[in-house]
Amino acid sequence: MLDRVKQNFLNDIEKSKDLKTLENIYKKYLGRKGELTKILRSLKDLSEKERKEKGKLANNLRQEIEEVIKAKSKKFFIKSRHVSVMQKNWIDVTAPGKLPAQGHLHPITLVQQEIEEIFQSMGFSIINGPEVETEHYNFDALNVPKNHPARDLWDTFWLKDIDLLLRTHTSPMQARYMEKNNPPLRIIVPGRCFRHEATDASHETTFHQIEGLMIGQNISMANLKGVLEGFMKRFYGPQVKLRWQPSYFPFTEPGLELLMGCSVCGGKGCSTCGQSGWMEVIPCGMVHPNVFKSAGYVLERWQGFAFGMGLDRIAMMKHKIDDIRLFYSNDLRFLNQF
Ligand code: PHE
Repeated sequence: MLDRVKQNFLNDIEKSKDLKTLENIYKKYLGRKGELTKILRSLKDLSEKERKEKGKLANNLRQEIEEVIKAKSKKFFIKSRHVSVMQKNWIDVTAPGKLPAQGHLHPITLVQQEIEEIFQSMGFSIINGPEVETEHYNFDALNVPKNHPARDLWDTFWLKDIDLLLRTHTSPMQARYMEKNNPPLRIIVPGRCFRHEATDASHETTFHQIEGLMIGQNISMANLKGVLEGFMKRFYGPQVKLRWQPSYFPFTEPGLELLMGCSVCGGKGCSTCGQSGWMEVIPCGMVHPNVFKSAGYVLERWQGFAFGMGLDRIAMMKHKIDDIRLFYSNDLRFLNQF
C-alpha cells in the first residue's frame, strides 16, 4: 500500500514542471484528503504492534515526500525568478550603442567659416575687432561727420554717459586696421553688429557682417566685381543670379550694392525680398579718399575697395530661410536642421 503511494508520488514528481503542479502534488498526498494523510489517519485503528511498524514507514514516507517537494520547489522557484529577471533586465550586448546627444555649431557660424575659407584662398586675412566702439571709429573716421544726415542710416545703441556705442557695422575695423598697417592689404572682419531698430522678417537688432577691405596699387572696380562675383559663384554655385545697382555710403565713392535672385521665392517675389525677387546681400564700393586721409595714407598711391556683407542674409539665401529672427530664437527645431 505505502509502496504504491510512493511509486505514484515519484511518477507525479517526475512529470511536475512548475510550482503550481508541485502544489497540486502536495495536496494529492499530504492535503486534508491526501492519500498519505488518509493512511496516517487510519493508523489509530491498528493494533499497537502494527501501528508502530506501519507508522514508522508512513512517517518516513511523509518526510521523504516533504523533502522531495521542498527541494523541487526551490529549484522551480529559482528557475522562475531567473526567467522573470531575464525578461525584465534583458540586455542585448550585441546591440549598437546609443550615442550621447551632441551639440553642433550654429548655422551662422558654419556659414561664416565657409565664407572665411573662400576669402582666405583669395589671400585675405581674418581680423577681429571690438563690438563696443567709439564714435570716432564707427562714424568720424569713416567720413560720417557729426550732425550729418547720413548718420541716420545707422540707428545706434549708445552706451549711457560715456562716448561709446555698440558698433552698427564692421566698417570701423577698416579705419582701425588702416591706422596700424601699411598697404597693400587684404582683410576680412567677421563680427556681430547692433542696431536700434524695429525687428521684422529681415531686420534684427543683433546681426552679423563680414567686412572686407582690399587696398593696393591699381585696384579698380574690376577687382571689386571680380572678387565679389567670384565669391558668390563659389558660395552659391555658378548658376547664381547677380545684379549690381548703385548705392550710397559716406565711406565709399562710388557706392554699390550686389543683389542676388531671392532663393526663398525663386525670384518670383515674396515677403523676404520685399516682393522684388532680389535680395541685397553685399553693400560695397571704392574706398572714399577721406577715409584714406583719416588713416594717413598717401592718396595718389593707393586705391581700394570695401564691402560689408550681411552674414544673416547670406545664410538665409543659402538655406532658404524666410525670417532672420529664427537665427536668434534658440529654437532647437530650427537649429537641429544644420
Ligand atoms: N558698413 C555698411 C553698412 O553696414 C556696409 C558697407 C561696408 C558698405 C563697406 C560699403 C563698404 O551699411
